[in-house]
Parts: sequence; structure tokens; C-alpha cells
Amino acid sequence: MTHDNFIPYGRQIIDDADIQAVVETLRSSWLTTGPQVSAFESEFAAYVGATHAVAVANGTAALHLAMLAAGIGPGDEVVVPAITFVASANAARYVGADVRFADIDPATLLIDVNSASELITERTKAIVSVDYAGMPCDYGGLRELASKHGLLLIEDACHAPGATYNETAVGAIADITAFSFHPVKHLTTGEGGMVTTESEELAARLRTFRSHGITSDFRRREESGTWEYDQVELGFNYRIADINCALGRSQLTKQREWVESRREIADRYRSVLDDIPNVLLQEEPADRRSAWHLFPIRIVGDDASTLRRDVFNAMRNDGIGVNVHYRPVYLNSYYANLGYQAGLCPIAERAYEGLLSLPMWPGLEESAQDRVVKSLLSALNAA
Ligand SMILES: Cc1ncc(COP(=O)(O)O)c(C=O)c1O
Repeated sequence: MTHDNFIPYGRQIIDDADIQAVVETLRSSWLTTGPQVSAFESEFAAYVGATHAVAVANGTAALHLAMLAAGIGPGDEVVVPAITFVASANAARYVGADVRFADIDPATLLIDVNSASELITERTKAIVSVDYAGMPCDYGGLRELASKHGLLLIEDACHAPGATYNETAVGAIADITAFSFHPVKHLTTGEGGMVTTESEELAARLRTFRSHGITSDFRRREESGTWEYDQVELGFNYRIADINCALGRSQLTKQREWVESRREIADRYRSVLDDIPNVLLQEEPADRRSAWHLFPIRIVGDDASTLRRDVFNAMRNDGIGVNVHYRPVYLNSYYANLGYQAGLCPIAERAYEGLLSLPMWPGLEESAQDRVVKSLLSALNAA
């Protein structure tokens, strides 16, 4: 479908400074594993208040590396919320672990700590908490649960750079935190990701697994004048190029402003959509500050699923790029074929029937927001 003034649900913003940064790197002597990568790592670590940051090829690689660094493998279980992008669960499958899907809290749409708690067995090694739409999870509850059972807390913060929980930035809360720099995310490197941790040991393992399981990189060998290296693990090539990191560094300088802009858009949406019949908004608890990657609404009622379909179609016809994030992961054929069945997480399944993401990106002008709201309200009225 084409529309002259199509408003996407999310998009990147690239300015001349971003282009200049990439061009300068193309003219430099390092295209990969060079100074832009380490500078991006230190600047991102400073932005989120983390001690260590490891830049990688994408957010999925970040999650896979988190599993590898944590030593998770066959026979282990990992708890993952039902509502997330498939990559959050797939990372556990890559290392041969089994996924236990936790239900969500209907108000925040985030992992329900009680549901997660009921899934813990002797085989459980980690909880993957997903800051869905940019909203930090209940880290007080999750930390307590993780320490009670000796579990690692792996935070999928692909939606949440710039968010805070109790005034601590996402990136310095969990044992390992994964970020994505895909173009619809907060900042982009084209494709890219980052892993942050406070543990020096985990950071070293992340770096080793990022590059084939080899303990030193080419640049360090060049600096120390040696050709020798040792492969100590079966790692991957999950490196990110300097070209991408130059873009990431330039994008990072605009992050605070962009998160503020997302928060203003969310406030504006909330002020007009708060009391609309059949519509619920994602709750932002007082101890959290969302980075609003998405603005999900929940259509509720006896036939939420039909109403959501009608609203989706009507808004698309109006040139509004609404989208649905996400179908419970275990309803995908791959997981269904592993034996997961509908009914596993009833709250997530009910929420999914009515989920709809409204356009949300910095620079979405007020006139465009008004168009989104007008289209939504008339679609709801017409239904
Ligand atoms: C919650 C979540 N986790 C992980 C990923 C994977 O990130 P990437 O696309 O950079 O591999 C995404 C990306 O869409 C995501 O939304």
C-alpha cells in the first residue's frame, strides 16, 4: 500500500554530522576493529553509567553472547517473557537451553515477577527481562528473585537505552544488558548492538566470544608486535565495523534530546488517549522513566481481536504505519513445534489480541501526532 504522507511507526534520523563521521572513517586506515569501536564502547558505557561495554554486530548477537558469557548450555532453563521479539528467546535456544515463558503484568505489559518465580526449577540459570516498549521491568522484584535462586539477570534493553529504574540508567542494573542499534531503535549504526556489564570477567568472556573465541584482537597484536594468538572457546564473528561505530558515536550525542522528545510525544498521546473507551495505555510506574521506543496501546473488550484488526486496517488506509508488537513468542511455529501450546500465558495472549503500536520517533511532528490520534479515534468510532 502506498500513501503520500505515510507515517512509519519508527524511523532513523540521520544528519550531516552523521554522514561526515562515516565519511571520515572511510578515509581512515581502520574500517573495523579500530579506534571508533573502542571510542563508541567508552562513550556508550558513560551514557548508561556502565563499567564495561562491548560493541557487537546486532542486538541478537548481544543476547547470544550474553548466554555464552554466562556459560548457559544444554539442560539449562532460561525464563523469558511471552511478549517480546523472538530474538530474546532464540538466544537461549542458540546455546541449547530450554525456554520457560513467563506471563506479563497486564498494566505494564512487562514480565510478571510472580509468574517468573513459579517457573524456577533446579535447572533455571537466568531470567531474561525485556524492557518492552522502553519501559524498565520491576528490577527490585527481579533482583530479589534472581539472588534468592542464584540466577543471572540478563536484561534485553533493545527498546530502552536512556530509560531509568529508581534513577539508575538501564545498562547498569542487570548482570548483563543487551542493546540493539537497528534503524527503528533509539540510535542506529545500520546494524549493531552493545552488551554492558559491571563484571570484568563477563566483559572479557563477551570479547572473546565476539571474535571466534580468540583472546586478543588484531589491533592489540599489531600494537604489541606479535602474530601469536590463542583460540580458547568456540566463538563467533560478531564484531561491528568502525564505519558503523562512527555513525553510532555521532548518533549518541543526540540521545538525551531524542529521549526527551519521545517522552513529550508519549505525554501528548497520553493526555488525549487516557480516557478513551476500549483503550488501555501502558502504565509507567512512579519509580520508572520509559525511553518510549514504542507507544503500545491495548484495545480491550469482548471482541478486541476483531476491533484491533479493523482499527489496524483503517489506520493503514489513512497512511498511519501502526504495527503489532508482539505475538506471544511461543505461538510462532518454531516454538509450537517444540511443544508449547496456546493457553500457556493467558494474560499475554489476551493482551496480544488488542496490541497496537502507534508511531513513535523523535521528530514526529505535532501535526503528525494529531493525524495519528484523529485516525485512531475515528477508526474506533466507526467500529
Ligand atoms: C526486544 C528485542 N530484542 C532483541 C532484538 C534484536 O535486535 P537486532 O535486530 O539488532 O538483532 C530486537 C530487535 O528488534 C528487539 O526488539
